[in-house]
Amino acid sequence: MAHTEIALVTGANKGIGFAIAGQLAARGMTVLLGARDRERRAAAVARLGGDVHGIALDVTDADSVKRAAEEVGGRFGELDVLVNNAGITGDFTQSPGSDPVEEVRRVFEVNFFGVIAVTEAMLPLLNPGARVVNVSSSVGSLADMTAPDGGHLAEMPAMLGYPVSKTALNALTAQYAKYLRDKGIRVNSVCPGYVATDLNGHDGGRTPDQGAAIAVELATRNPDGPTAGFFDDGGRVAW
Ligand SMILES: NC(=O)c1ccc[n+]([C@@H]2O[C@H](COP(=O)([O-])OP(=O)(O)OC[C@H]3O[C@@H](n4cnc5c(N)ncnc54)[C@H](OP(=O)(O)O)[C@@H]3O)[C@@H](O)[C@H]2O)c1
Repeated sequence: MAHTEIALVTGANKGIGFAIAGQLAARGMTVLLGARDRERRAAAVARLGGDVHGIALDVTDADSVKRAAEEVGGRFGELDVLVNNAGITGDFTQSPGSDPVEEVRRVFEVNFFGVIAVTEAMLPLLNPGARVVNVSSSVGSLADMTAPDGGHLAEMPAMLGYPVSKTALNALTAQYAKYLRDKGIRVNSVCPGYVATDLNGHDGGRTPDQGAAIAVELATRNPDGPTAGFFDDGGRVAW
């Protein structure tokens, strides 16, 4: 019998993470829906149905991450896919000149340190050939933010938290890809595009399912697939 692959998605109770969880389940994977709030987690698991299981996981809480890894190991034994999706934008106090350190730290706790914590905890469970997908953003592209015309967010004020956390996340992708290459484990960053979710007050022009597609593609078994890359629906994104 073919091995049923097992995927863990963080921040999967809503938005793009929920859509990624649904699409991976539709591809026949056992999906572990990571979410920090018990009621939101249960509601999301019930909405998806099928082979989807809630895992309590606050990526900023070391005990929660440890317990989640123990639960995944104890109940499922292994992972074929890890999608680090949980993320926050933070508020405008992350702008230069607005005493930003505290807010930048808060954003990095989720978008950067949370990814290290979860990835480290799940490393022993990752099968050879597993895929790690980090949900990043083109706002973290150094090429874009240093473009002579100011890049695609030229009209936005400078911010030290969210975009910089995604630049740092992309560097994590490169370092984990290097570390895991010998095991045949692929690690990539993806940008979902501008998606209508709670994160941006539903301002985005794309649906969560559209945003999820590139993450699902990189999460799908493909021995010839890329590693250490940054992708959106249009192909490679400049770092
Ligand atoms: N929307 C866009 O246009 C866009 C564009 C580029 C990249 N992204 C990225 O896509 C990812 C998903 O964003 P989204 O738009 O789907 O946002 P969203 O609807 O606000 O969902 C964010 C998810 O992250 C979870 N989360 C936040 N803090 C967490 C923590 N400490 N531990 C565990 N989970 C936590 C949230 O859980 P709660 O419900 O408990 O808060 C929620 O499930 C993020 O990494 C974001 O940066 C989004």
